[in-house]
Amino acid sequence: MNILKQEVTIIGSGIAGLYAAIKLAEQNKKVLIITKSALSESNTRYAQGGIAGVLPENKLDSIELHVKDTLKAGAGLSNKEMAEFISEKSASVINDLINYGLSFDRDNNNNLCFGLEGAHSVKRILHSGGDVTGRNMETTLHNLVQNNTNISIKRYTNAVELLVSSDNTCNGLIIYDEKSDNYEAIISNAVIIATGGAGQVYSNTTNPSIATGDGLAIAYKAGAIIQDMEFIQFHPTALCQNQDGSRFLISEAVRGEGAVLKNKNNETFTNKYDKRGDLAPRDVVTRAIFWELQKTDSERIYLDTSPIPEDKIKQRFPGIIKTCKENDIDFIHSLVPVSPAAHYLMGGIKVNKEGLTNINNLFAIGETSCSSLHGANRLASNSLLECIVIANEAASFINNTNFKPIEINNIIDNYPEINNIIQEYSTNKTKKTLNLSELTLKLKDTMWHNAGIVRNQEKLTTALNDIKELKTKFNKTFKCANEEEYEFRNLLIVAELIVKSALLRKESRGAHFRDDYPEPDSIAKHSYIQKGE
Ligand code: FAD
Ligand code: SIN
Repeated sequence: MNILKQEVTIIGSGIAGLYAAIKLAEQNKKVLIITKSALSESNTRYAQGGIAGVLPENKLDSIELHVKDTLKAGAGLSNKEMAEFISEKSASVINDLINYGLSFDRDNNNNLCFGLEGAHSVKRILHSGGDVTGRNMETTLHNLVQNNTNISIKRYTNAVELLVSSDNTCNGLIIYDEKSDNYEAIISNAVIIATGGAGQVYSNTTNPSIATGDGLAIAYKAGAIIQDMEFIQFHPTALCQNQDGSRFLISEAVRGEGAVLKNKNNETFTNKYDKRGDLAPRDVVTRAIFWELQKTDSERIYLDTSPIPEDKIKQRFPGIIKTCKENDIDFIHSLVPVSPAAHYLMGGIKVNKEGLTNINNLFAIGETSCSSLHGANRLASNSLLECIVIANEAASFINNTNFKPIEINNIIDNYPEINNIIQEYSTNKTKKTLNLSELTLKLKDTMWHNAGIVRNQEKLTTALNDIKELKTKFNKTFKCANEEEYEFRNLLIVAELIVKSALLRKESRGAHFRDDYPEPDSIAKHSYIQKGE
């Protein structure tokens, strides 16, 4: 197997990975980005509502208010110091994005426009191109990354295993290029996992097909501590389309501008469940929809955009209007059919504010990580903000002269266990490619029905038994035959972590709701899982 040496390796090219790469390269670090699809394919690319931030020109806002909203949405599990740290850094990282060339929407007087989403007490969300914030962010950062001589990129390449030695240090990783069916080992001073979320573990999700929890799964296999996996955010309003797979999001910002949710009888309903109505925190609105769908024996509810003036909708939501039109839906003049879908993973690889995991020289940033900012339910538009703040801190930590690099030239000689992993991936085992479509459908289906919006002991136990059966059928935990198998291997790991954590949490809190334990415990506690426990 070819063995490469690299100063810093970043897995993933969403906003977290790209931003960290730029910050490292600015200090002359040599960075390699590994990404499993096209450079732009990521959850980031589909972000609509925007990025939350406390900017000095927004006179109605303050750090205290942003922190208060974040903690309230987080239902007792958001860390106050982390929320303060991230909010305090928001103005400087957003200015950074502007200096990098990202243009946020402004009014006729050139003042920044601030949008509103659920559970924010003031308008504070910056957006770009109306509702294509993520696409514009990705394009801006791509241009910088692609033209930077300190950054090299391997596209359509999967990270499949981490090289962690017995002294608890990450020394690099194994990568797999499906096109050439080729493996390489990368020995690296620092590895940053920025592989995003895992929405694909559910049959209904707003996430694109890349979101299979790969980074989380390989970190868990390598001994990383995984935190709060039971907290999955289900977005209330994904478009009901005539197709399977990933579903198009209808941004919460549409309700922020005045649209209202209605049931099949054309009645508003969310305020029957919570007095904050359509703009309550996401978990509350999603559960209101879940119960209303059961009560009215229907599969979808509707978004009525008629309260928003027509010129405002056209200017603010051009991307949504276009996609609805492609699905034969008139976003401006007709009721828009929507229902909840898995959207965001609050849990992940446990990190500190520099993105450092419990494994030396291994970092995790963005949605794959858990910094304890979001707690049991993420405040809308806080994800993009967290991604860049922690990416920036991780880069500063690695750029700092105190950061202890590994002895890159002696790894294979000094650590037989690393050599063993490399040998495992070098051997030409007979390939036995399984037909995975049926197994994948089964996994996603059981997760949606048994580990979804409303859970209980019986449902979760069914999900766990289904996962165990699928694991026995699949029977691969190490080298796989192709990318599809690696993704399935990883989805099984993530699904099991979600279900085990959900079984252990015998209370309801934030996005984790159990109808057999409908109340929160008096003390809020995080959950942690590590391999071997
Ligand atoms: P991603 O952007 O998902 O990037 C992950 C990268 O890792 C991808 O490049 C992927 O190809 C790569 N990768 C994955 N596995 C591997 C592997 N094994 N090997 C190599 N590469 C790999 N948040 C907000 O704050 N505001 C919003 O308005 C907003 N809107 C959203 C709308 C939608 C439809 C969705 C799905 C999410 C939205 N979110 C929003 C959430 C937010 O977009 C994400 O949490 C954030 O973009 C995650 O960024 P990331 O860099 O961590 O991961
Ligand atoms: C949205 O635009 O509704 C999504 C925002 C988010 O996930 O933060």
